[in-house]
Amino acid sequence: MGNLDSATLVARLERTTPIFRATGATVIIGAGSPIPVPGGQDRVHPYAPHPAYYWLTGTRRSGGILVFHPDDEWIHFVCPVTNAERLWEGDVVAPTGIDVTDLVEWIQSRTHTRIALLGCELPSLIHASLPAPIDGELSAALADQLDATRRRKDDTEIALMRRAVAATHAGHAAAQEFIRPGVTERAIQIVVESAMCQQGADGTGYGTTVGAGTNAAVLHSKPGSRVVGDDDLVLIDAGGIIGGYTADVTRIYAAHEHLTKRQQSIYDIVLAAEEEGIRACKVGAEWHDVHRAAAHVLAQGLIGLGLLRGTADAALETEAIALFFPHGIGHMVGLGVRDAGGRALGREAGRRSCGVAVRCDFALEENFIMSVEPGLYFVPAILDDSERRHRHRDIVNWDAVTPWREVGGVRIEDNVLVTANGPDNLTAAIPK
Ligand code: GLY
Ligand code: MN
Ligand code: MN
Repeated sequence: MGNLDSATLVARLERTTPIFRATGATVIIGAGSPIPVPGGQDRVHPYAPHPAYYWLTGTRRSGGILVFHPDDEWIHFVCPVTNAERLWEGDVVAPTGIDVTDLVEWIQSRTHTRIALLGCELPSLIHASLPAPIDGELSAALADQLDATRRRKDDTEIALMRRAVAATHAGHAAAQEFIRPGVTERAIQIVVESAMCQQGADGTGYGTTVGAGTNAAVLHSKPGSRVVGDDDLVLIDAGGIIGGYTADVTRIYAAHEHLTKRQQSIYDIVLAAEEEGIRACKVGAEWHDVHRAAAHVLAQGLIGLGLLRGTADAALETEAIALFFPHGIGHMVGLGVRDAGGRALGREAGRRSCGVAVRCDFALEENFIMSVEPGLYFVPAILDDSERRHRHRDIVNWDAVTPWREVGGVRIEDNVLVTANGPDNLTAAIPK
């Protein structure tokens, strides 16, 4: 059907068929189309297919529509290659399938109990000609079920992840070699991305973060003209992408050979929290508990430095830890830097932990790949917020915090495959 091996694709369709069949519905899954650049005339943003469509078809071509019908089962409608594409883009290949312009006639000739739409919106002409309205509730429920099905990575996905990790490793190794006082964040970005692409990456899985000095306190700091100073640490969060699968790795590098004493103290705490988080990635573990385990180590460390008072449990309960660890422990990673995360079927939305939104709310299963990324940051917008300073006046030693601001922030991030034998850190070889 597409450009992945057919046994893999057949197995994915077989995993999905009973879920769709049980509803008796017709299920339409749109690949999506390139998004025009506003005011850009015929220019479009780089395109990526909807992950649900790509996972089931293996094709990254736009405009396709995969349909499950209880009688006909799976039918793939595709956009044939145009002469304009041959002229401007060269050797474009379309997957095997029925011309998408035949979809309207096909769908109108079949009977449907209900129609669900997953993936991207349909082109308006096709949408308008559907023989029944789209069932929004069913669509949302099936999208959740397909996400839940996709969470367990198959061998093809794990192999792609390992290749993405190898490319990412090359990028970080090149950065480590290159970083020294006087280079700019932008120059570091170019070195990282170039090395990843030379090692086989198709590109980057997300915007590369390079934060020198206090810029490391900006969670997704965009690399700019800031020059690395003598005592700066440099935070790099970068991942190479291959076949739609990306790694997502954060490391901290010293401008000179060693971190300063303060930087090292924060680094050691974050590393201990990360190791605790990785250890917790076992089959059956609740992701919220992984967050809590890492947050506990961070809180204990800040108490040790005299920045927090009382117990680690109190720092978690009062949510004071979120002043320094203001994000979740991580997310599912793989087919995109935010892969099929979300929550277990039937769980309420928006459950928080230790004062933050944690992106995933489910128990870990075999072959999930999770990014584990605790951090400690000294974010001026948080530390200078009078309401928060007042609320946490007893637990935070605010005077003691001030000299630590120069550290900026430390995050350490690895990608962990959950196995029956425990966590397998796919990115462990990238030095930290
Ligand atoms: N590297 C982007 C993120 O994890 O948020
Ligand atoms: Mn991440
Ligand atoms: Mn990251």
